[in-house]
Amino acid sequence: MTSSNQLDIVPSNPSDPSHGVGSVGVDLTAAYRDSNIDSLLDELDRELVGLAPVKMRIREIAALLLVARLREAKGLTTERPTLHMSFTGRPGTGKTTVALRIAKILHQLGYIRKGHLVVATRDDLVGQYVGHTAPKTKEVLKRAMGGVLFIDEAYYLYRPENERDYGPEAIEMLLQIMETQRDDLVVVLAGYQERMETFFHSNPGFHSRIAHHLDFPDYQLDELMAIGDLMLGQQQYALDADARRVFAQYLERRMHQPHFANARSVRNAIDRAKLRQANRLVRQGGTVARDELARIDAEDIRQSRVFAEEESAGRRVGGSRSDSNGHAPERDVAKGPPGTVDPPARRPADPPRSR
Ligand SMILES: Nc1ncnc2c1ncn2[C@@H]1O[C@H](COP(=O)(O)OP(=O)(O)O)[C@@H](O)[C@H]1O
Ligand SMILES: [Mg+2]
Repeated sequence: MTSSNQLDIVPSNPSDPSHGVGSVGVDLTAAYRDSNIDSLLDELDRELVGLAPVKMRIREIAALLLVARLREAKGLTTERPTLHMSFTGRPGTGKTTVALRIAKILHQLGYIRKGHLVVATRDDLVGQYVGHTAPKTKEVLKRAMGGVLFIDEAYYLYRPENERDYGPEAIEMLLQIMETQRDDLVVVLAGYQERMETFFHSNPGFHSRIAHHLDFPDYQLDELMAIGDLMLGQQQYALDADARRVFAQYLERRMHQPHFANARSVRNAIDRAKLRQANRLVRQGGTVARDELARIDAEDIRQSRVFAEEESAGRRVGGSRSDSNGHAPERDVAKGPPGTVDPPARRPADPPRSR
């Protein structure tokens, strides 16, 4: 189960009389270095903006797991630590992204064979007819073995209001696997915090099998800006000073509108700005300089519906009050090209999906 770059603690010398009883020290620094875990943790720090409490917890968990390995090598009793987790937070706060990183870290530390992530929702696990649920859940579990199974909006598995619901079948299977295959599968249950709490309350079996609860807070404006810069940089785009100012104004408005989905909304906004930039350049024609291809102008952002709505809302104050809906647009394409719909994220206030 160890590949060359996985943690491979050198066992103490068997001819040493103290072998196995742990009186010979282990070089923790060397073990840490050899595990290569530091580079993954640094990557996590560098490539994800904010999330300080989450990052700290992950470092703690990594330390715990490293020490557990060292204890094992020294013959000290070590139960395999429970690794199932719950990630609570609103859409776009980085839960899936962090799960991917954790899968890599657990693999690096030799706790899972493959280190891949399988994302599943209720639809992947629960069937609509008798006898459909078990094979569906089995198939997902099979794919996830040796890695991390991320169950998004896990509470949809439990729908007591539906008399003939097959969710409990999937729940049974998951609970069993989480117990018996602890050394080959790590399960992460994710979703809105309040709903997860309710879910755990009605399904204490899950709660008791989870070792680590990580909460993902909403991002602040400056963090959203930093996330935008990071994403743009990765794609070799940049905002000029004017565009930065307008982008900050955009985010400030967008944050307070319905369906705002944190970093995902930033990514969507950038995608739309790229479309507008491309359209602008094509309309403009002629020769385009390299830096023009890389630059997002203020205009590319200002054309967003988020600003259009603001203007029309402003007009309404002094004029017609016919539209009192006050709903923010789900699309941000007033003047942009088609096909740039920001898929609305569900909010805590939304009723559960009816499936
Ligand atoms: N802290 C962060 N720094 C940089 N990018 C982030 C951060 N959090 C989320 N993202 C990006 O935002 C998008 C949505 O994140 P995701 O992990 O899918 O959120 P969630 O699973 O909580 O809905 C992804 O493209 C991800 O790369
Ligand atoms: Mg997600």
